[in-house]
Amino acid sequence: MMTKNDTKTGTPADSYLKEAVLSLAEEDPWYVPLFSNVSALIMENMKDLNWAGFYVVRDGELVLGPFQGKSACIHIRYGKGVCGTAWKEDRTVRVENVHDFPGHIACDSASNSEIVLPIRKGNEIKAVLDIDSPVFGRFSEADESMLQRIADVLSEVVHF
Ligand code: SME
Repeated sequence: MMTKNDTKTGTPADSYLKEAVLSLAEEDPWYVPLFSNVSALIMENMKDLNWAGFYVVRDGELVLGPFQGKSACIHIRYGKGVCGTAWKEDRTVRVENVHDFPGHIACDSASNSEIVLPIRKGNEIKAVLDIDSPVFGRFSEADESMLQRIADVLSEVVHF
C-alpha cells in the first residue's frame, strides 16, 4: 500500500498514481476496494477537489459506487448529467463551468468544474470516474491526460 503523499499538486506524476493503482489491484482487483482506494488517492493527491468517485453501470443506468466527498445522487440515467453524457457519447467529458452544462446534476453545490472518464471492459463502458472541483476550469489538458492513463489502467485491471 502506498503511503499518503502530503504534498498535493495540481497534476500528480502519472507514475505515482499509476504505480499506486497497479499495486492496489495486485492485492485485490474487485471494484469495491479498488475504486474506494483510488477515490482516496485522487483526493489525497490532487488539490482543490470536493468530490472524487465512481458510478457503476447496473440495469441500464449509472449507480453510485465508491467515492470521497459529500453524499451524492444514487441513480443517473443514460445521457443525463455529465456522467450520463460521458457514458452515452462514449468519451471523456471535461467541463470548465458546470453551470453552463445543459442538464448538469448538482449533487454538491460547491462544484464548479468537473471531469468524467469512462472505465471500459472491451468496448463496453462499465463505470465512470467522476471528479468535481469548486474551482472553475480546474481540470487542464495535462490533468485529463494523467487521469485518462489512470482510467485506462483501471479498465485493464478492475474486476466487477
Ligand atoms: N455532476 C454529476 C453528478 C454526480 S456528482 O457530481 C457526484 C453529473 O452531472 O452527472
